[in-house]
Amino acid sequence: MTTRENLVLCLALLFGIVTAASSGGTIGTLGSSVLGQDPQTVNRLNGGSFQQDPLVTFNGYQYAAFYDASSSSNTSVRYVSVARRELSPTSTSNSSTWEKFTLTDYNQTLDDGHDVISLGISHTDGTLHLGFDQHDDDLHYRVSKPGVATNSQNVTWSADLFGEVLDHLPGLEDLDKSIYFINITYPRFLSLPASAKAVSGSKADLLLELRVGRSGLGDDWLYAYEPNEGWTQIGKYLEIDNAYINGLDFDSRGALHVSWTYRDYVNDTGQDVAVQAGPNGPENNHDMDYAISYDLGKTWKNNWNQTIANTSRQSPIDPTAAGITIFSIPKYGGILNQEAQTIDNEGRLHVLNRENTTGVERWYHYWRSTAAHWTRTPLPLPSELTPASANNVTGTPTVIGKRGKLFSHGSSLFALLPSNAANSSALSILGSTAQGHFRDWTVMWEMDFGCVAEPLFDRYRLVSESEGGEGDGVLSLFLVNGTNLEVLDLDLSEV
Ligand SMILES: *[C@@H]1O[C@H](CO)[C@@H](O)[C@H](O)[C@H]1NC(C)=O
Ligand SMILES: *[C@@H]1O[C@H](CO)[C@@H](O)[C@H](O)[C@H]1NC(C)=O
Ligand SMILES: *[C@@H]1O[C@H](CO)[C@@H](O)[C@H](O)[C@H]1NC(C)=O
Ligand SMILES: *[C@@H]1O[C@H](CO)[C@@H](O)[C@H](O)[C@H]1NC(C)=O
Ligand SMILES: *[C@@H]1O[C@H](CO)[C@@H](O)[C@H](O)[C@H]1NC(C)=O
Ligand SMILES: *[C@@H]1O[C@H](CO)[C@@H](O)[C@H](O)[C@H]1NC(C)=O
Ligand SMILES: *[C@@H]1O[C@H](CO)[C@@H](O)[C@H](O)[C@H]1NC(C)=O
Ligand SMILES: *[C@@H]1O[C@H](CO)[C@@H](O)[C@H](O)[C@H]1NC(C)=O
Ligand SMILES: *[C@@H]1O[C@H](CO)[C@@H](O)[C@H](O)[C@H]1NC(C)=O
Ligand SMILES: *[C@@H]1O[C@H](CO)[C@@H](O)[C@H](O)[C@H]1NC(C)=O
Ligand SMILES: *[C@@H]1O[C@H](CO)[C@@H](O)[C@H](O)[C@H]1NC(C)=O
Ligand SMILES: *[C@@H]1O[C@H](CO)[C@@H](O)[C@H](O)[C@H]1NC(C)=O
Repeated sequence: MTTRENLVLCLALLFGIVTAASSGGTIGTLGSSVLGQDPQTVNRLNGGSFQQDPLVTFNGYQYAAFYDASSSSNTSVRYVSVARRELSPTSTSNSSTWEKFTLTDYNQTLDDGHDVISLGISHTDGTLHLGFDQHDDDLHYRVSKPGVATNSQNVTWSADLFGEVLDHLPGLEDLDKSIYFINITYPRFLSLPASAKAVSGSKADLLLELRVGRSGLGDDWLYAYEPNEGWTQIGKYLEIDNAYINGLDFDSRGALHVSWTYRDYVNDTGQDVAVQAGPNGPENNHDMDYAISYDLGKTWKNNWNQTIANTSRQSPIDPTAAGITIFSIPKYGGILNQEAQTIDNEGRLHVLNRENTTGVERWYHYWRSTAAHWTRTPLPLPSELTPASANNVTGTPTVIGKRGKLFSHGSSLFALLPSNAANSSALSILGSTAQGHFRDWTVMWEMDFGCVAEPLFDRYRLVSESEGGEGDGVLSLFLVNGTNLEVLDLDLSEV
């Protein structure tokens, strides 16, 4: 054993973690750090699968946005906290030490798991952007001063860095707020890679995606941030029957891929609609749909490259658009909304969702080859997995259980799977390879407790230098572990 392997083993024993060896190498545990205290609400305010993102790496720092119960003496009031730590290997600072501040001028008071915080960063002007506390509410958005992330060494980390809470996007003061910025849910930010900027010829370096309108009736809109100037509207790209996206990802050629499931609307006028679900819940989800844009979301094509939407003609994708349904999954078919998608280094799109179309609820992997061919495979049952999953994880999915994530590293694809067994907070990582046509799933890493909410990770820390990023091969997980809100760092350098 090398010293590093020894260290990894010691840490693994300390964390109650099992690292399984496989032909693809092992995932090691580097350490964890505590960001703050998770508010003990019934519905989780930190760690929702649609939260994009709670952790963002840029320019040698990792940034985190979260609700921290320890910052408020009144348990019914939560504040947004923002933290950072330096990741530079040459730095002498302790990478488990976070600097943090709390924005106490806004009270989060509803116990509603939609009300998460999303963080985005403009790489050009160094602004941090936050969208938070929205479930069919007016826009809640605030932006930092320029330079915070680009001139990071010289920044004094304090709440003064942020401007006030806004109910509109700066640069779009002329838009009618009562049309564009009400009934907002699920803000997602996405940085543009260099390839996307080149393709679109746009100055923009950050996208914002959000839903306008309630569950079952919402539309999805896209906005682009132009550094030092402000936001511009791309337009409404998905409408009718509420498309719930698994995510939004650029490939290395700058094309934007989106996959989603539709939810049929049930007219519930006069009924007492629940906060988390209602007659318009996930049971009404159906189909696995897909579209691609080569011009930063302005026009969209189906899998066969036929144009199906043009936002500048107010003509978004609707459920009748040709060629969007890749796999037809009926209502009550067990498909969940907003699970996961990712793009690998070859430009293949991978989607994680679940189905109960055979009498058993199982996780499914759907992927699109570079030749636009789709494959749909259930993840192996526990009895088919070697080594066995100590968490029995692939045997646990339920219709509304905790959702997983996908990420790619090298030529491998990984699934981050939270156990859906009752009261379990176990977490497993399964891996598969391009050579094995992503059917050779093996258990790479597991922990038997420590993931109470849905697991999230820092997508930007995984973008390596060769892919235009500055990632260091570390997978940073954002986890609610009991009452602690933690970042757990795993080492992917050996896989
Ligand atoms: C979760 O918290 C427990 C108790 O504080 C601790 O023993 C364990 O190491 C933590 N797990 C992780 C992954 O940090
Ligand atoms: C705590 O906050 C809630 C929600 O704003 C408020 O109703 C309550 O009065 C506060 N309690 C105290 C002791 O300030
Ligand atoms: C880093 O910080 C953590 C938490 O503050 C502390 O427990 C640990 O001992 C520190 N490590 C070093 C090498 O200073
Ligand atoms: C926010 O909560 C604090 C602490 O409970 C309270 O003093 C303050 O009045 C609240 N502010 C608003 C605008 O409700
Ligand atoms: C920080 O400020 C100093 C002096 O104002 C300047 O020389 C240095 O380049 C700045 N550092 C960064 C990272 O911008
Ligand atoms: C949208 O917001 C308005 C104003 O808050 C509200 O009256 C209306 O019911 C909302 N509509 C939907 C579909 O949520
Ligand atoms: C739902 O039904 C009510 C009457 O019961 C009707 O007024 C309303 O327009 C319907 N809503 C939708 C979105 O179809
Ligand atoms: C689809 O169209 C785009 C441009 O609109 C082009 O770049 C791309 O190569 C086309 N893809 C296929 C598979 O024909
Ligand atoms: C989209 O609509 C605009 C405005 O009508 C038009 O100029 C453009 O050619 C359209 N694009 C496509 C791909 O149809
Ligand atoms: C899957 O479907 C079968 C048959 O409809 C049903 O008995 C079973 O309970 C479902 N599984 C879950 C996890 O809902
Ligand atoms: C493991 O999952 C299987 C479904 O594949 C289930 O039948 C079995 O009860 C599970 N075992 C445990 C110990 O939870
Ligand atoms: C889960 O926890 C609840 C509340 O503590 C308890 O009532 C229930 O029996 C537990 N279920 C299992 C399967 O352990």
